[in-house]
Amino acid sequence: MSAINRVLPAAGKSRDEVFGELAALKQHDVDWKSGRCFAYIYDPGTEAMAVGKDAFASYLTENALDPTAYPSLLELENRIVGIAASHLSGDENTVGTFTSGGTESIILAVKSARDYNRKHKPEITEPEMILPVTAHAAFHKAAVYLGIKTVVTPVGDDYRADVGAIAEAITPNTVLIVGSSPSYAHGVIDPIPAIGRIAEEKGLLFHVDACVGGWLLPYFRRLGQEVPDFDFSVPGVTSMSMDLHKYAFTPKGASVVLYRDAAVRQAQFFACAGWSGYTVVNSAVQSSKSGGPMAGAWATMTFLGDEGYLELARGLKEGTEKLLAGIEAIDDIDLLVQPDFCMFAFRSETVNTFHIIDEMKERRWLIQGQFAHGNSGDNIHISLQPGNLSWVEPFLVDLADAVKDAAKLPSGELGAMLADMPAFSDMDPATFAGLLAMVGVADGALPSRMAPINGLLNELPAEAKEDMLKTFFSMLFRPST
Ligand SMILES: Cc1ncc(COP(=O)(O)O)c(C=O)c1O
Repeated sequence: MSAINRVLPAAGKSRDEVFGELAALKQHDVDWKSGRCFAYIYDPGTEAMAVGKDAFASYLTENALDPTAYPSLLELENRIVGIAASHLSGDENTVGTFTSGGTESIILAVKSARDYNRKHKPEITEPEMILPVTAHAAFHKAAVYLGIKTVVTPVGDDYRADVGAIAEAITPNTVLIVGSSPSYAHGVIDPIPAIGRIAEEKGLLFHVDACVGGWLLPYFRRLGQEVPDFDFSVPGVTSMSMDLHKYAFTPKGASVVLYRDAAVRQAQFFACAGWSGYTVVNSAVQSSKSGGPMAGAWATMTFLGDEGYLELARGLKEGTEKLLAGIEAIDDIDLLVQPDFCMFAFRSETVNTFHIIDEMKERRWLIQGQFAHGNSGDNIHISLQPGNLSWVEPFLVDLADAVKDAAKLPSGELGAMLADMPAFSDMDPATFAGLLAMVGVADGALPSRMAPINGLLNELPAEAKEDMLKTFFSMLFRPST
């Protein structure tokens, strides 16, 4: 092993050199500032973003590990949770926790359900969680981390949870039912009141995942959109997750998990006095945690205020209506379902989805593909955010062209051919590399046209897809030398 560390410079570099290098590294990243990126980014505009950034930086070093040492962070968390709880029709009993994102909020809600049931229904030794197939992958992750069986239920033709299927899936081992407001994939809200009635009747916990829509849906309702009841106003809803770093436009690392009742949240907390160091008591997964995300979230929300959010929601509502009408006017593509939110999915029966995405990429647009699963065919997902609004018309012009050009391209049969191959994790590295080379991946670098690899993944069963992607990640994440 070499004694020389080639990655860490022997002598520290200057501030200018450091930032120069960072800027150079960023050059190949998605250019979110262009407004041509319909995923990953939630941009409230330069001023609000700068406020969030400055507040984040001002609390970067403070550590929320110990609320007695940093009472300001305790205060900020209680303020943010208070805003969130009243936004989602909570009352004086509603409690919650600030977390690093939707996945952490969901992991905590699932842990609370598991451990609350462990206390009150100790006869359950093999806990189960009922998930409509449209529930976010984070619930599957929580299930894996926490040792819970997932019971996946179908959705209807409108991609909303099938309430009858949920009722039938309940067993004596059920510890949690999940619904989405809305689901990420199709942007539709599950029938929360009907699921709530079942949960109440059976005495079960019911989590509503409003990570993506929770913040803006109340504004859309105020602007005249028909938004079905989806929050703590619905009897039977016992917990909710709502991200702030999505449609509340705060810096990343910000979400809340909320509970109707403090007794369920109690099961979320972790304390350890059984070691020789400082006694640990954590409300969330992280222990040491930067105060940055909390300060950034509070500052952005306070800077925008209710009126600021109403205006951002107005723009998104109008932009979504324009986009939906424009997409419906393009031959060969159709919405999967009319969405309840400013995110939705469309597809073509005749033109290869992944070629459309590549053609859009050639035209410098980033849109997200979603593979076929359950009753949802492969499709293209759009999350509209304020930064995109001035680009809706040029986007629609390019989309119409992209669909025409994609229709001229051949669709490979690679996926069908590979479906019978052995598990990717069992392949020797050379065979796996050869396979990736066939679809244009060389040395872990992705090709500019992704249709062959996406076509292949689309054909594979979920487990084989997961297997292949994990193996690919293992190739990707290798220390620099
Ligand atoms: C509905 C829903 N739940 C949970 C998550 C997970 O959130 P995060 O990426 O912040 O962990 C997402 C992310 O898009 C989502 O859309």
